[in-house]
Amino acid sequence: ETPWANVLLLFHLLIINQNMIILKQTDLNSFLWTIRRDPPSYFYGTIHVPYTRVWDFIPENSKQAFQESNIVYFELDLTDPYTISALTSCQLLPQGENLQDVLPRDIYRRLKRHLEYVKLMMPSWMTPDQRGKGLYADYLFNAIAGNWERKRPVWVMLMVNSLTEADIKTRGVPVLDLYLAQEAERMRKRTGAVEKVEEQCHPLNGLNFSQVIFALNQTLLQQESLRAGSLQVPYTTEDLIRHYNCGDLNSIIFNQDTSQVPNFNNVTLPPSEQVTAQEIDSYFRRELIYKRNERMGKRVKALLEEHPDKSFFFAFGAGWC
Ligand SMILES: *[C@@H]1O[C@H](CO)[C@@H](O)[C@H](O)[C@H]1NC(C)=O
Ligand SMILES: *[C@@H]1O[C@H](CO)[C@@H](O)[C@H](O)[C@H]1NC(C)=O
Ligand SMILES: *[C@@H]1O[C@H](CO)[C@@H](O)[C@H](O)[C@H]1NC(C)=O
Repeated sequence: ETPWANVLLLFHLLIINQNMIILKQTDLNSFLWTIRRDPPSYFYGTIHVPYTRVWDFIPENSKQAFQESNIVYFELDLTDPYTISALTSCQLLPQGENLQDVLPRDIYRRLKRHLEYVKLMMPSWMTPDQRGKGLYADYLFNAIAGNWERKRPVWVMLMVNSLTEADIKTRGVPVLDLYLAQEAERMRKRTGAVEKVEEQCHPLNGLNFSQVIFALNQTLLQQESLRAGSLQVPYTTEDLIRHYNCGDLNSIIFNQDTSQVPNFNNVTLPPSEQVTAQEIDSYFRRELIYKRNERMGKRVKALLEEHPDKSFFFAFGAGWC
């Protein structure tokens, strides 16, 4: 029952090939697992936060494993412009459709109002450091939300979730997984990806309309309460960074809130809505964790068998995204 994709992936690998012995390294704050073979290969659990916030806490053995490996694999190849454009277009509504045509009027109106609020607040959310780097609020808002009227509701919901003060403050520095990809490229390592964009994108698009409207409504209700000051921020990126730096795997595994898919199970809901919340939760688990792990596990296994003489470094995120 863990939302932490990679841990499950390791279990899958163990099941797929019982001869493969995987060992977690003993360093307290290590997210490195060694696959014992000659030369060894590695799994590394990355995190989607600015690398500068975690880099100094990453143990030397993890950095060394990265340096010594021949081939580095990521979930997706984020340095490939095709990946980015495919992700962008997968998130769009069919040609000619707009959110205004698709969403119930009340939801559309609240969404619009919330985004106007975010746009207004953005300059005050940004840090002097971000301004020093030439990152402007207008630019950032447009980069994240510019095309919101054309996005599918499920992606707008995720976007709204990431447009918080805490998340905005982390923008402008490459996240750890992207940084590792850039480093791998700089070191001229061979790189690859175990997933296709569609495999990450389509399961989210497969949530049905009433489920998506429910999720968007809950997300907006949460943001509206935050704005009104009647709700504390349920989790912050800061908590996630702290747990990661302490090597606190349990918090990352068991804290549902660290997944980027919002969890609506703990809000007080009437029974009929609880059913919907649970259905969404199990849909995400099935599509984004179990099925994905199995698929990724099989590809990892195939790669390892195909290249027994190479040292692989698999860098997979501590979430689905
Ligand atoms: C969406 O899926 C849920 C759960 O599978 C189902 O109960 C509901 O009827 C579906 N709604 C629509 C509009 O298809
Ligand atoms: C949004 O959620 C609230 C509270 O659960 C509910 O009363 C309201 O009808 C929902 N609105 C829509 C448009 O689904
Ligand atoms: C659920 O909400 C309650 C009250 O806000 C909180 O004390 C509790 O820690 C939450 N549980 C989880 C699992 O997030």
